Formats: sequence, structure tokens, C-alpha cells
Amino acid sequence: MNKDKKSIGVFDSGFGGINVLRGIVREMPEYDFVYLGDTARAPYGARSQDVIYEFSKQATDFLFRNDCELVVFACNTASSEALRKIQQEYLPELYPKKKVLGVLIPGAEEAVERSKNGKIGVIATEGTVKSGAFIREIKKIFPQAEIYQNACPLLVPLIEEGEHDSPAADFLLKKYLDPLIEEGIDTLILGCTHYGILEDKIRGLVGDEIEIISSEKVVPKKLIDYLSRDGEIDSRLSRNGVTEFYTTDLTEKFESLGSGFFGSKIKANKIFLD
Ligand code: DGL
Repeated sequence: MNKDKKSIGVFDSGFGGINVLRGIVREMPEYDFVYLGDTARAPYGARSQDVIYEFSKQATDFLFRNDCELVVFACNTASSEALRKIQQEYLPELYPKKKVLGVLIPGAEEAVERSKNGKIGVIATEGTVKSGAFIREIKKIFPQAEIYQNACPLLVPLIEEGEHDSPAADFLLKKYLDPLIEEGIDTLILGCTHYGILEDKIRGLVGDEIEIISSEKVVPKKLIDYLSRDGEIDSRLSRNGVTEFYTTDLTEKFESLGSGFFGSKIKANKIFLD
């Protein structure tokens, strides 16, 4: 442990969150970051709420014990199924001075801001869709919103197999997006860490009239805003421009796909979570 290092933790079920981290580092290169991907137990998308909570709690604990003052859940599934309970029950008891933020509220706020007709589409994992968390967060800001969701269980495995640029990706995206387009949505939330990599293809399918909300663009903006409002936590964060990567299963794929997501070569350390 380095006493002078007080980082921002970024947690995801696997390596998709590296996409979100990339967006954050691009906007805040002077800060220090610790990324944790729970690849040994990913995907979280179809797991039960209890298990996602347990895993997310362990990840949060690891990051706090490794000099993080603030943790961002880049994972939409963990943000949907575990974040509230961690903020309300776990943090006050064990880490009252630390903070955990998610990706749902930034996405929901941005979607409401950009939508003109109030019809918002969400594509995400089964867990995120079933939790209804996006509906809850959007309705809190804009109760009249009409929200249309579609779970896309085949997209994460497809991307993890490196097939994001294949005809299979075109076929699946069309199948998942057509029902939302037919409802007349004018804004689409990419409610999963991995989908940012498909943004160009999604743009090709939905056309220019639909706003696309992706975490790697929205979360950095909202994080900067959050830190400017909470000067106390911002003052505790160190600024050496260092990013470290941890994973629960170190495979060649983590480093190769992760480097692709991050935009430069990454080296990860293996850890065990319990
Ligand atoms: N990180 C997850 C999310 O954003 C996708 C991968 C998974 O299912 O674990 O929902």
C-alpha cells in the first residue's frame, strides 16, 4: 500500500468496464485509478440479486483496502442490483467517509435531458432489465417518461468472443433494436459496459434522429461534476496519473481485449476476492 496514493476505484464484473475507465482517464488523466474486473465470476448479467450484492460488496471492500476513496461501479448490473444496498447499509457501517457511485443515474439524467418526446429505450443485460432500475431512476426525474427496455443476453458473449464486427452482431442488434425503434423512442441508453464498442453499428441501425447515451461519454462528465460539488473527497484524491488493473482471473484475453478496450496496452494483477 502506498500511503500517498488515494485512488478512484472502477469496478466491473469483467473487462467491459475498461471502456468506461478509458473515458474517465481521458477526461481526468491526472488522477490515480484502480480497476477491478471480477472476470472469474463474470458474467453477472443473469445472476441473482443476492449473489451480485455479495460479489459487489467484496469488490468494494478490496478497492477500499487498496487506497480507493471513491469507487465507481462501471457495471450496470451491479449498479442495478447492489449499489443502493451498499450505499445505504454497507458503507455507513464500515466506510462512512468513502463513496460508491454507479452508472445508472448519470445515464438516466442524460437521457431525460436529451429526449424530446419522452420515449426512452434501454438495452442491457437480463439482470439490469429485470431489476427495473433504469425505469425507477428515469421516472424519479421525469415521471411521464415512457421507457422501453430490451434484454440483449447474446451481446456480451459475442463481444467477448471478439465478434463485435461480424454479421452476427448486425443480425442480433437489429433483432434487439427494432422493437424499440418501432415504439418511437428518440433516445437510447446503452445500459451495459460492453455496448459502447457497438456504438457505430448501433448508430447505423437507429439513424441520426435517435440520441445514444453511453457510459464512457456520460460518466466522466458526471464524475467531474460530482467531484466539483464534493470538494472534500476531491481534496483527498491523489494525482500521479497512475492506473492499476486487477482481475480475479488473469487470462491472455483479459489483457488483450482489455488493451483493446483501454486503447493502450494494460498489465493486470491477479487477486482473489472473498
Ligand atoms: N458489466 C455488465 C453490465 O454492464 C455486463 C457483463 C456481465 O453480464 O457481467 O451489465
